Amino acid sequence: MALLPRKKRFKGVPAPIVPRVPLAGSSQVGEEIKFHEVGIFLVERRMGSSRRRFLSELARRKGFWVEELMSESVTHVVSENNTGNEVLEWLEKQNGLCRNGFTATLLDITWFTESMGAGRPLEVENRHQLQVEGAVAVTEELISPYACQRRTSLMNKNRLLTEALKVLAENAEFSESEGRYLAFSRASSILKSLPHTVTKVEDLQRIPSLGVHSRKVIKEILEDGSCSEVESILHNERYQTLKQFTSIFGVGVKTADKWYREGLRTLDQLRASDIKLTRKQEAGLMHHSDLGAQVTRAEADLIKQIVERAVHIFLPHAVVTLAGGFRRGKDFGHDVDLLITHPEEGKEEGIIYQVIKWMASKDLILYHNFTGSSYKAKSMDPEIFDHFEKCLSIFRLKTELVNNLESEEVSRSDPLARNETRATGLADRTETSRQGTAAGAGERGWKAMRVDLVVAPFSQYAYALLGWTGSRLFERDLRRYAKHLKKMSLCSHSLFDSEQNIFLQATTEEEIFAHLGLEYIPPHERNA
Ligand code: UTP
Ligand code: MN
Repeated sequence: MALLPRKKRFKGVPAPIVPRVPLAGSSQVGEEIKFHEVGIFLVERRMGSSRRRFLSELARRKGFWVEELMSESVTHVVSENNTGNEVLEWLEKQNGLCRNGFTATLLDITWFTESMGAGRPLEVENRHQLQVEGAVAVTEELISPYACQRRTSLMNKNRLLTEALKVLAENAEFSESEGRYLAFSRASSILKSLPHTVTKVEDLQRIPSLGVHSRKVIKEILEDGSCSEVESILHNERYQTLKQFTSIFGVGVKTADKWYREGLRTLDQLRASDIKLTRKQEAGLMHHSDLGAQVTRAEADLIKQIVERAVHIFLPHAVVTLAGGFRRGKDFGHDVDLLITHPEEGKEEGIIYQVIKWMASKDLILYHNFTGSSYKAKSMDPEIFDHFEKCLSIFRLKTELVNNLESEEVSRSDPLARNETRATGLADRTETSRQGTAAGAGERGWKAMRVDLVVAPFSQYAYALLGWTGSRLFERDLRRYAKHLKKMSLCSHSLFDSEQNIFLQATTEEEIFAHLGLEYIPPHERNA
């Protein structure tokens, strides 16, 4: 098979962009390549050379990468009036291509023309795919590019691969390259959903949406046991520093990068510096070690009980639900996400202020920040934000309560009362120097934990619950699916059908999936 000279083993610090470099003399020279994840090869058979040339130029003008020759960097093989078997046979004859090593997707011209119309490479759907008889892997059902059409439990059978892709995604996030961040995150997410461990490249045939770069990384790990690009990122000083700084509550990529460029490398250097921190960052740095230690399910349940009790003092019929990763069945999390609502709409207004005020008076709050409609999530997901009343906070949880959690007595007794009588107030708090450690939590008698409280009006509760259950990628794909395939607009408040021009009401998550024409996926299978 004709290999382009671009296939190089990666060495050194990663280049910021996946390079698709126009070959000298090819008509791609001079055209800007917009979609680096897609490499198109047009099959001349039955298309003819002049139509092939015309279509190639059209695609290149629109920023697509079109290969003259079949190569390993081709992801999308497009043909007209051929069956899948005819295309494979033709490729075999022309390029000596072996079908077992073939990972590109065989597509009908419809995918090409629709993509040209849209001005971007469209997600491959079943109808675009050419079937190949006798090829088990290709005739098996394809894996959807949308996380909301896949079931992803917590049993990740491809951890070696997904961890590597996660490093690449993180590194792309640190380079503020959203396209690459998404491509690697999606690749990792798809592998998480597979019911088996990938052991050879051919196992990837059912996954048309895997990008070239991700495929390359997977192939290298399968062949060599590790990926040189990933190893080099892990040893990269900037990556290590940004990873450390962004692990501070309140610190995003931009701030971390600024500190890095100012020469800071460690938390201690940051503590010793005269850099002005926001109140949130100050709290994040002060409790960094506690917040870095994972929240256990038992702790999350306890926090839910405490909040529930506080809420019921003011609103006896309010409902408090544990959302986020714990609702998806995780045993550990980085925070506790609690959703509050009341069956009588309007009653929930202002509850969050009362609850926090009351809890602060019991010395249970180390940091809090109310946010409302102007709030936007710190992340690369522009779609994930909502306008609910919420409070991002750091709780002060008595370790004794946590240690005794297993005992029947404590779970039945009043956790708040115990926290209250045992709280030692200010004396304890001054002890929390900027050095506060999770190990120190035992001696100190309490542990700092991140808690997000969100209040949703009852009529929006199902949407809020769906939105706050995650995972982030699952939510992102739900919205993308709704927009691209259903012409609907989904957020944590509502679902708008732009063809009918109406908002679709729902009281359960099941109804929302039904509105979207999706099979219902329960929370524990949304770990995309
Ligand atoms: P988290 O960031 O807490 O993630 O947001 P998680 O899945 O619970 O994971 P860990 O275990 O804490 O690390 C929970 C969900 O809430 C939604 C996201 O969809 C996310 O999956 N969310 C979060 C929002 O809708 N808006 C936000 O501002 C934050
Ligand atoms: Mn969470």
